[in-house]
Amino acid sequence: MTDKTRPVLLTGASGNLGRALAPALTAAGYTLRLTDIAPFPDAVPAGATFTKADLNDGPTILRLAEGCQAILHFGGVSTEQAFEVVLGPNIRGLYHIYEAARRERARVLFASSNHSIGFHERPAGNAELLDADCAFRPDGFYGLSKAYGELMGRLYWDKHGVENLNLRIGSSFPEPVDARMLSTWLSYADLARLMERFLEAPRIGHAVVWGASKNPATYWGGDHRDRIGWEPQDTAEAFRDKVGGKVSGDPVTERYQGGGYTAMDYTRETPSPKDQFSLD
Ligand SMILES: NC(=O)c1ccc[n+]([C@@H]2O[C@H](COP(=O)([O-])OP(=O)(O)OC[C@H]3O[C@@H](n4cnc5c(N)ncnc54)[C@H](O)[C@@H]3O)[C@@H](O)[C@H]2O)c1
Repeated sequence: MTDKTRPVLLTGASGNLGRALAPALTAAGYTLRLTDIAPFPDAVPAGATFTKADLNDGPTILRLAEGCQAILHFGGVSTEQAFEVVLGPNIRGLYHIYEAARRERARVLFASSNHSIGFHERPAGNAELLDADCAFRPDGFYGLSKAYGELMGRLYWDKHGVENLNLRIGSSFPEPVDARMLSTWLSYADLARLMERFLEAPRIGHAVVWGASKNPATYWGGDHRDRIGWEPQDTAEAFRDKVGGKVSGDPVTERYQGGGYTAMDYTRETPSPKDQFSLD
């Protein structure tokens, strides 16, 4: 049982997932420091404070993390953008988060993404599911920044003993909106339960966990969820009738796990043919 009066820093608090987590974690008794570059759009929950800050501002991030037991790092660019847009928040900002964690001996939960491995093909039939120790195959500059973030966690654990869990979030929205999300959806409730397991786990080391609910159509297999004792409870299957027919019709999008992100600025003439995979 953690000391719930020791604060937890939540970055990206004003974003979609931050706004879902802030009330859920304060209701569970945690003391939160919320931060974001954008104002917090809701009433700040009891048990939380909010400070507006840019992840690029290292001294402010270090100050915000003072005395924290953990950092839930959800802030930054969360969609595919030009390299220069991604660079500051997702690369430099992440370094500030890890330096703060190192100083405070805090553990880090990094909101990574399926887009760090987006160019793996979707499993066909009963093909093997992808384990979390698979190769990074980022599907854009955003996914590349998430792969870098996971490697930053690897470095800070190996060199400084900063514990970290890298949550490769699939699609975390109130409900699935297309057929791909029958495989990738993570409910807000499963996400919040995972945060609690992360905060309460005695030992984490450097862990990678697929961020998806209990979806029978999943792409993903083994990971380190046993270290925190997390089991998702919700399933996207309940939405199959509503979204099962919602496919893009684009061959690149439908072939790879990253979906539409793989097709953005895609300049190969065709998706790589099967017989050329030995070159991939
Ligand atoms: N929602 C998903 O399905 C999903 C999937 C994979 C990964 N993720 C990751 O989870 C995290 C949260 O996702 P979300 O859906 O809530 O995204 P979001 O865009 O709603 O929230 C991100 C927040 O980061 C803040 N931010 C951006 N630049 C910043 C800066 N320079 N300094 C401080 N704050 C800054 C934004 O203001 C925003 O409130 C992101 O890191 C995202 O990459 C989300």
